[in-house]
Amino acid sequence: MIGVFDSGVGGITVARAIEQHCPGYPLVYLGDIARTPYGTKSPATIEAYSRRNTEFLLDQGARLIVIACNTAASIAGSLLRQQIATPIIDVVQPAVASAASSSASGRFGVIGTPATVRSGIYQRWLKQLRPDAVVHTVACPLLVPLVEEGWLNRRETKMIVRRYLHPLRNRQIDTLVLGCTHYPLLKHIIGPRIGQRVRLIDSSVEVARTLRQLLDSDTNLADSLYHPEIPSRFYVTDRTDSVQRLAETVFGRSLHLETTDV
Ligand code: DGL
Repeated sequence: MIGVFDSGVGGITVARAIEQHCPGYPLVYLGDIARTPYGTKSPATIEAYSRRNTEFLLDQGARLIVIACNTAASIAGSLLRQQIATPIIDVVQPAVASAASSSASGRFGVIGTPATVRSGIYQRWLKQLRPDAVVHTVACPLLVPLVEEGWLNRRETKMIVRRYLHPLRNRQIDTLVLGCTHYPLLKHIIGPRIGQRVRLIDSSVEVARTLRQLLDSDTNLADSLYHPEIPSRFYVTDRTDSVQRLAETVFGRSLHLETTDV
């Protein structure tokens, strides 16, 4: 199985994109709702949570791990790769690669959680691929709780998004990376407020494409993960009505969320 984890419900956007790009490859998903948000926590805590999530997925039979959380990937990605032999991919690298190759001007905006922005990961990797890159980052701590609460169309959410995007509006960016897997759920609000000429990079779609390429190029890995007869499983560390609703909205069908006290 392909193990996917996020701090909450944002990674469901990744799980959905993987299901669409890689049919027949069952997922085991863990959303750590009980401890979300990660983005305002210390690196040591984020590392400990990420390690525990990964071990849970391995215990469930995962043979490939997808870190569907920019915060966990930014803070704990390299540590997990050092400690765990199972292949790991994450949402940051594919988003960076897509942004770097599609931008004409090399002027980027990145929005993410405070921990992701503080880590500086997007600046570092964008500059590696595009030495001419000018990267403006904005931490948006209120967006994750708004999404988890299901406030996807509220006036308050629109006002807060506008406020966060304000510093990016006169920076002449042509690409905005949604550096948090919760933000694709706010694309319809973010897009019109940053402007039509700015391309939005959705890390959930990018990681699903990267996974597809990996499966196409590594037949052994693909064969070991391909089990169309096995249904995907979705675990959460706490189940609330809004999370259940949101998960079903993303998948467009009813979804059985199992609780675990991992
Ligand atoms: N979805 C997570 C991310 O991509 C973050 C949410 C959180 O702060 O826990 O960064």
